[in-house]
Amino acid sequence: NTVFLNGQFMAASEAKISPMDRGFLFGDGIYEVIPSYHGRFVGFTPHISRLHAGLAALSIEHGMTEPAWRALCDKLLEANRPTLGDNLAVYIQVSRGTDSKRNHAFPTGVSPTIFAYAFAIAAAPIPDKAKATSYAVITGNDLRWQRCHIKSTSLLGNVLHYQQGVEQGAQEILLFDREGNLTEGAAVNVFIVKNGEIATPPLSHKLLPGITRLLLLQILRQHSQLNVIERDISYDEVVAADEIWLTSSSKEIAPVLQINGKPVGDGKVGDIWLKAQQLFSAHKY
Ligand code: PDD
Repeated sequence: NTVFLNGQFMAASEAKISPMDRGFLFGDGIYEVIPSYHGRFVGFTPHISRLHAGLAALSIEHGMTEPAWRALCDKLLEANRPTLGDNLAVYIQVSRGTDSKRNHAFPTGVSPTIFAYAFAIAAAPIPDKAKATSYAVITGNDLRWQRCHIKSTSLLGNVLHYQQGVEQGAQEILLFDREGNLTEGAAVNVFIVKNGEIATPPLSHKLLPGITRLLLLQILRQHSQLNVIERDISYDEVVAADEIWLTSSSKEIAPVLQINGKPVGDGKVGDIWLKAQQLFSAHKY
């Protein structure tokens, strides 16, 4: 397994980071996960734009450009496809860097730690009701911080929410803000369908601007007549939805068939999911 660390490609076993790195001590960094199938990345440009926006929000200067990231990511695919296979995600993490002492203030004269590696993912989802990977979810109050639009490596809030779901036999948790509106899941964005309307919460500091969410909205608006809207969604609307979907880079669009132990709609994979995943599969590159 070949990885990238601070300008060099090396075996994963050779990659070493100091315990004084601020990514380790403070979770002071930004990350990305970019999927690829047979050497083609999905949403490469928006993934890198989101990475750069996150780094700017943290005032981490890195000197990287999209073409530089592209060359790095292409090289990771090339080096790892023979051993890891053709469906690979690239994980990128940039932390503020390693300081000699632990001090909350941003250190001066420190260069960021840039790490990237490739890992195998499942084959791209197939638009087929019988082959869909479906999910059971629970719901809960969103107890994370108020900067959820930043893809920070400080993921403890998300980890604790995700574990809440696991402990109740679910694979995700849908989160609601203090006003009772849906935000997102622990590691996914959320869409609901009711009477033919496809809805997802609007972007704000309360949720990650998911790239799958972005691509799906663009594709539905460009290639279908389906009724798509970004708006606030209440708890009552979520539990009464005909369909619920989870979106993320690895899942693409995943149907939810159970919420808090009860069926979603008729408890089967929905017709609009099928249409959406067909369109996504056809237009995602
Ligand atoms: N999770 N919301 C949260 C909180 C996420 O962590 C993710 C992604 C998403 C979906 O974003 P995208 O469509 O860009 O993958 C939404 C990544 C994959 C992870 O942490 O592994």
